Amino acid sequence: MTQATSRSFVILGGTGDLSGRLLLPGVAELVDAGLLEGVDVLAVSQEDWSDGEYRDWARDRLAEHAGHVPEASRERVVERLGYRHGDVTLSADLRSALARVEGAPVVYLALPNTVFLPTLEALTEVGLPDGAVVAVEKPFGRNLADARRLNAVLHRLLPEESIFRTDHFLGMQTVLNILGLRFANRVFEPLWNATHIERVDIVFDETIGLEGRAGYYDTAGALKDMLQNHLLQMLAVVAMEPPAAVDARSLAARKADVLRAVRPPEDMQRDTVRGRYTAGAVRGRPLPDYAAEDGVEPDRGTETYAEYTVGIDNWRWAGVPFRLRSGKALGADRHEIVLRFKPVPHMAFGGEAPEPDVLRLRLDPDGIALEINLNGAGDPFEIERRSLDIALPPTRLSAYGLLLKEMLDGNAALSISDVEAEESWRIVEPILAAWQAGDVPLREYPAGSDGPTRHP
Ligand code: BG6
Repeated sequence: MTQATSRSFVILGGTGDLSGRLLLPGVAELVDAGLLEGVDVLAVSQEDWSDGEYRDWARDRLAEHAGHVPEASRERVVERLGYRHGDVTLSADLRSALARVEGAPVVYLALPNTVFLPTLEALTEVGLPDGAVVAVEKPFGRNLADARRLNAVLHRLLPEESIFRTDHFLGMQTVLNILGLRFANRVFEPLWNATHIERVDIVFDETIGLEGRAGYYDTAGALKDMLQNHLLQMLAVVAMEPPAAVDARSLAARKADVLRAVRPPEDMQRDTVRGRYTAGAVRGRPLPDYAAEDGVEPDRGTETYAEYTVGIDNWRWAGVPFRLRSGKALGADRHEIVLRFKPVPHMAFGGEAPEPDVLRLRLDPDGIALEINLNGAGDPFEIERRSLDIALPPTRLSAYGLLLKEMLDGNAALSISDVEAEESWRIVEPILAAWQAGDVPLREYPAGSDGPTRHP
C-alpha cells in the first residue's frame, strides 16, 4: 500500500453519479495520500462537453463529495482530467477515446448494468494492451445467464486476474479485518464452526431511503442491490476455509468453494422476507411512501427490504443458519455480522443459563465486540454480561479509494471472481423467481420502524 502508482484511468460513464460521488473522490484520496503519481483520468460519456466543462463539473463534485481531501490535492486531480464525448457501446467511439491513453489503463465501467454487455463487446473489438485492467460495477448482470454472458466476453478481453468485479464492501475495514481476526490469531479459528457456533446474522440496516436513485433502485430492489453481492461476499469471507495466502488466487478459490456450498432457501415463505416502506419518520425526518417517490412504479413491487436464511452444505457449517438482511428507511443504522455461539455444555453456577457468547463485527463505524459472561462485581458467584469492545479508527482511504488503488496496482485480491459472481446468482435466483411469482407477500413497514421482522 505504500508505493505510488502511475497509470491511466479511463471512466466509461464518467459524468454519472458513481463517478462524481465515489470514483473521483477515491482518486483524490490516493493523490492526497501520495499513492498516485502522474495519473491521467479520461472520462467518456454522452454529454457533449469539452475538457474544461468536465473539469468544472468534476471540481464541483469533488467539493461536494471529497471535502475531506484538501483542495490542493483535489485540484491536482482536476488538472489531469480529460473528457471525450462518445457512445461507449460503439467500438469506433471507444477506439478514438482510448487512442488518447498511454500505456495499459484501468478501464472502469461506471455504467448502468444494462449496457455492460454491449460495452464489453465493443471493447473486445477495440482490444486492450497487455497489463490493462477492466473494472465492472454491480449488479453483475440481472441473472445467472447474464453473468455467464458477461464472464464469457470478459474472458475474451482479458485474463481473469485483470478483471475487477467491484464490490466496495471488500474494501471496508471490518470485512478485511475478518481475515485478520480469523487467520492471524489462534483463539477464534478453532471455534469457527458448527460445533461451537449456533447461527450467523449478516445485517445491513440503513436509515437512508431512496435518495433520488429511483432510476436504478426501482429496477433493482434490495435483493439485487445488497444481498446478491455485498452480503454474500461478507458471508463468503466469514465462512470460507483458511486461504494459503491472502492473494487474489487463494481468496477467490476459497470464497468460490463456500459459495458453491450455499443451499438456497427451501421454504421461501419461511426463509425469505420481502418488504417495502410506507410513509413514516426516521429519527424525526419524515419520509414519503416509497411507492409515491418520483420515478417509482408501484406496480413493479420493488422491495426496499430483503431477508433470507441459507444453510452451507459442508463439514464446517452443516446445520448453522446464515441469515442475511438489509433494508432502507429503517429506524437505526445497524451494520454488523453477528456470530452467536452455542451455550456452555454445563452451567456450574446454578441459576438460569446465561446468554451464550456473541461476537459482533461492526461496520461503519468499525468495531469488534465480544460479549461474554464474567463473575459479577458484587456477588462473585453470580454471572454478569460484559463486552470486550474495540472501536477501530477510521481508515485513511475510503473503500472505493482502497479498491481503486488495488486496481491501479493490478491486484484483484479484493474483487469478486467469475465463479463467485455466477454462484451468487445461483443462490438468489430461486428467491427472485418465488418473489416474482408472488409466492412471498410484499410486506409493508413504516419508515423508521424495525422493518417487517424483529431483530435477532
Ligand atoms: C451500495 C448500494 O452499493 O451500497 C446502496 O447501492 C447502499 O443502496 C450502499 O446504500 C451501502 O454502502 P455504503 O458504503 O454507502 O454504506
